[in-house]
Order: sequence, then C-alpha cells, then structure tokens
Amino acid sequence: MATAGGRRVITCYGAAVLLAAALLLSAPDATEAYDSLDPNGNITIKWDVMQWTPDGYVAVVTMYNYQQFRHIGAPGWQLGWTWAKEEVIWSMAGAQATEQGDCSRFKGNIPHSCKKDPVVVDLLPDTPYNMQIANCCKAGVISTFTQDPANAAASFQLSVGLAGTTTKAVKLPRNFTLRTPGPGYTCGRAIVGKPSVFFTADGRRATRAFMTWKVTCTYSQFLAQKPPSCCVSLSSFYNDTTVSCPTCSCGCQNPNGTNCVKGSPHLGSAIDDPGKWTGQPLVECTSHMCPVGINWHVKQNHKDYWRVKITITNFNFRMNYTEWNLVVQHPNFDNITQLFGLNYKPLTPYGGDINDTAMFWGVKPYNDVLMQGGNKLGSVQGELLLRKDSQTFISEKGWAFPRRVYLNGDNCVMPSPEDYPSLPRMQAL
Ligand SMILES: *[C@@H]1O[C@H](CO)[C@@H](O)[C@H](O)[C@H]1NC(C)=O
Ligand SMILES: *[C@@H]1O[C@H](CO)[C@@H](O)[C@H](O)[C@H]1NC(C)=O
Ligand SMILES: *[C@@H]1O[C@H](CO)[C@@H](O)[C@H](O)[C@H]1NC(C)=O
Ligand SMILES: *[C@@H]1O[C@H](CO)[C@@H](O)[C@H](O)[C@H]1NC(C)=O
Ligand SMILES: *[C@@H]1O[C@H](CO)[C@@H](O)[C@H](O)[C@H]1NC(C)=O
Ligand SMILES: *[C@@H]1O[C@H](CO)[C@@H](O)[C@H](O)[C@H]1NC(C)=O
Ligand SMILES: *[C@@H]1O[C@H](CO)[C@@H](O)[C@H](O)[C@H]1NC(C)=O
Repeated sequence: MATAGGRRVITCYGAAVLLAAALLLSAPDATEAYDSLDPNGNITIKWDVMQWTPDGYVAVVTMYNYQQFRHIGAPGWQLGWTWAKEEVIWSMAGAQATEQGDCSRFKGNIPHSCKKDPVVVDLLPDTPYNMQIANCCKAGVISTFTQDPANAAASFQLSVGLAGTTTKAVKLPRNFTLRTPGPGYTCGRAIVGKPSVFFTADGRRATRAFMTWKVTCTYSQFLAQKPPSCCVSLSSFYNDTTVSCPTCSCGCQNPNGTNCVKGSPHLGSAIDDPGKWTGQPLVECTSHMCPVGINWHVKQNHKDYWRVKITITNFNFRMNYTEWNLVVQHPNFDNITQLFGLNYKPLTPYGGDINDTAMFWGVKPYNDVLMQGGNKLGSVQGELLLRKDSQTFISEKGWAFPRRVYLNGDNCVMPSPEDYPSLPRMQAL
C-alpha cells in the first residue's frame, strides 16, 4: 500500500520527493522488526496443499527457523491466522487448535476447530504415534540451524473443509500471528510461490505440492517488550572486585520479598501444574532478580594469549534451559584460538568486515542444558583462549570485557562501563 501511494506521489513531484520518501522508509521505525546482529533472520512458514478432499484440502505446514541464534524455547510456539472464508479444520496431526469454537451448525462429523481465527500449538513428545507426523511434537520448541539443524523446523498437518477444491478457489489465510507465547514476531502476508517438490527416500522420484504459499515472520526486541531476563557480572584475576549485575537489572524485590524465593523452594509450590505453566519465571531473591546471570571472568594473561571463563547460572526454579546459547560481542573475537566446553560460530552480520561477534553454545551432553535453579547443576561453564598482540594490556579499562551479551536472543543487562574492573595504567598487564 505504502509503495503504491509513494510511487504515485513520486510521478507528481519528482526527485526531491523520491529522496524524502526513501529517507522516510529507511528511518528507524520503532516497530520495525530488525536485529542488527541477525539482519536477515526470519521464521518462514510454508503451507503445502498436498491433496484435495471432497470439500477442501489437506495441507502440511512447516515452520523453518532461519534465525542465527534465536530459538523458540519452552513453553513453545503458538501460530494463529484468520480464515479468508468460512473454512473449518476437520482434523489435525502433529499439532492442535487451542479452541474448538462454535461448531453448532455441524451434525454428524464435528470439525476439530470452527474458529475464524484458530490458534495452533504443538503437541508434546509423548503424543500417540497415530497423531504424529514427521518433525512434530516437540512441545513447541524450535532450535536454530546453527545449533541443531535436525530440530530447526516444525511441521503439522491439517485437513481444511469448506475451502474450495481448486488452486483458484482456495483463498489464502490472512493475518498470521506467531507468539512464543508472548509477542515479538510480526508476520507478513501469505504469498503464493513455486509448489514445493518432495523426493522419495531413494531420490528417484519427485512429487509436487498442489499449491504452496509462504509467510515470513521477523522478531523485534522492541515489540517483544519483555523485561530483561539476564544480566552480566564481571571479574578478573588482576582485581579482587567482582562487578556484579546492576541492582534491579530484571526487576526489584518487592519490600516483602514475595516476588522471589529465598533458598530452595518446595517443589510443589515452585512447579505449576502442567497445563497452567505460563513461562513466568520464579526466581531466587537476588539484588538483580534475573532468571539467569552470566559471569565473564578474565582468568589468565600471557604474552600472546589471554583466557576467559564464562559461567552461566540459573536462578529460575521453573526452567531448564535446554540448548541455551550466548551471543557475545568483543573486539578480540577475530582471534579466538581455542574453546573449552563450548561450541562456537562467528557471526559476521556486516558481511565479514567486522568479525567481533560470536555465538557460543554447550557441548552435548555435557553442558547443553542449564538446569533449573536450586539444582546443584544449575550452572554451566566454558572457557575461551584468545590471541592478542603482546602490546595489548588486557587490564586497560574495559578492554577484556564484552560489549554486548545475548542469552537465547535476549539482550542481557551489563554493568556500566565506568565500573569495569581495571588496574591503574602503570601496573597494566
Ligand atoms: C528468510 O531467511 C532465509 C534464509 O536465510 C532467506 O533465504 C530468505 O530470503 C529470508 N526471507 C525474507 C523474506 O527475508
Ligand atoms: C489480526 O490479528 C490481530 C491479533 O490477533 C487482531 O488484533 C486483528 O484484529 C486481526 N485483523 C484482522 C483483519 O483480522
Ligand atoms: C507487605 O506486607 C505488609 C504488612 O504485612 C502489607 O501491608 C503489604 O501490603 C505487603 N506488600 C506487598 C507488596 O505484598
Ligand atoms: C529439569 O530437569 C530435571 C531433570 O531432568 C527434572 O527433574 C526437573 O523437573 C526439570 N525442571 C523443570 C522445571 O522442568
Ligand atoms: C572470524 O574470526 C575467526 C577466528 O576467531 C575465524 O575463524 C573466522 O574465519 C573469521 N571470520 C571471518 C568472516 O573473517
Ligand atoms: C587478530 O588476528 C589478525 C590476523 O591473524 C591480526 O591481523 C590482528 O591484529 C589480530 N587482532 C588482535 C586484536 O590481536
Ligand atoms: C578494581 O576495579 C575497581 C572498579 O573498576 C576499581 O575501583 C579499583 O581501583 C580496582 N582495584 C585495583 C587494585 O586497581
């Protein structure tokens, strides 16, 4: 719409307006879904119509997570859309609609859902086999291709009724929404593309979807409007002071301490009933009140190398963070030499010119799960060895510390740069 309007204006007023329009379009828009560390990241939803039925079609819907480091963790995705006509979902496999809605006009066979705007959620891993399809039933968790390519996509199948039985008659659903389960993603319009091609296991025969459309969803931290979920503390071998997470990084303890737990809670009160779990953290009482704390410790310094120990601690009694990942920015990351207990991939969001950002994740099965708080195993560690030139003093104010840290795609609260541990210049290491 905007471009059509824009073009009409341009033909009237010429180049000056063209420039103004271009500036307007490129101006940072607060609602724009964009992450400078993953500018092309998106989740693509592919909808393949596989066969016609007497009153509609059977489709396989697959969501691909094409984001570098943002996965969809527990309690998982919720995909919604609005039907264009009077469609109903006769049946589903590999997922379910959260509400049946008003099916009172049906006699005999009752649809799975008659909602005009159904919301679909994944099934749990222990779902009976006759309700599963390939790539389904992971409790709504979708990993990234970087970290776990086998689990970076999710599929379900649905049989749609009252939908039309030709490619012309089928109308695309509108207004796709992806929630995880909170906001954050914005989905574009469904666009009909080339029909998907499927190969048999031996690769000797190809079949084709009758019709395929795609929807692209992108994430914006701004839209998500989540309170911070992690914070960073800094320490070093050359200064005894640990710079802790800023006070109230993720919220403040209320005066009676009723919004957090002192010590280990009784499991009964800590863990919600399965159906009622909202993903709300239940945190240990700390000055920062974050569900997760990350400590960056400068451990050693040699002439040409220095070493960092990263410790991630879970203060949330309600969450095991499976397949956690960190994205860290540091100017010396172009010279990471060795890793201990960590997997690693450099992220070069600016096309390789600036190589200062990296993604780290745990080694299966040793530290890929950050166990719930209160558990002896509620923390994970790893180390990095970095090469520097012998002139670089790591103790110079702030140099050895990260500039930016994300946990599972969420920006972590950092101490203020003035507080970074340092040594007076004369004693620099
Ligand atoms: C989504 O990501 C994929 C993989 O990186 C890319 O090929 C595709 O162009 C992206 N889609 C959009 C609309 O940006
Ligand atoms: C699209 O979905 C949003 C959120 O579910 C809703 O507020 C809005 O009214 C919907 N628009 C249409 C045209 O259905
Ligand atoms: C804290 O406790 C006091 C006295 O017991 C009570 O009046 C007050 O409402 C409580 N505040 C909160 C935030 O729970
Ligand atoms: C975390 O994992 C442990 C071990 O598998 C399990 O006992 C515990 O219930 C899990 N906690 C949550 C909150 O899921
Ligand atoms: C970035 O630096 C790492 C070494 O830390 C190197 O392995 C990688 O190839 C570099 N990537 C680019 C695009 O320069
Ligand atoms: C990192 O390595 C490159 C090439 O190996 C070198 O040119 C550069 O100076 C190094 N950077 C630092 C900070 O040591
Ligand atoms: C350690 O770091 C703190 C915070 O930057 C600083 O105030 C203090 O002077 C440092 N200690 C020494 C011995 O340099």
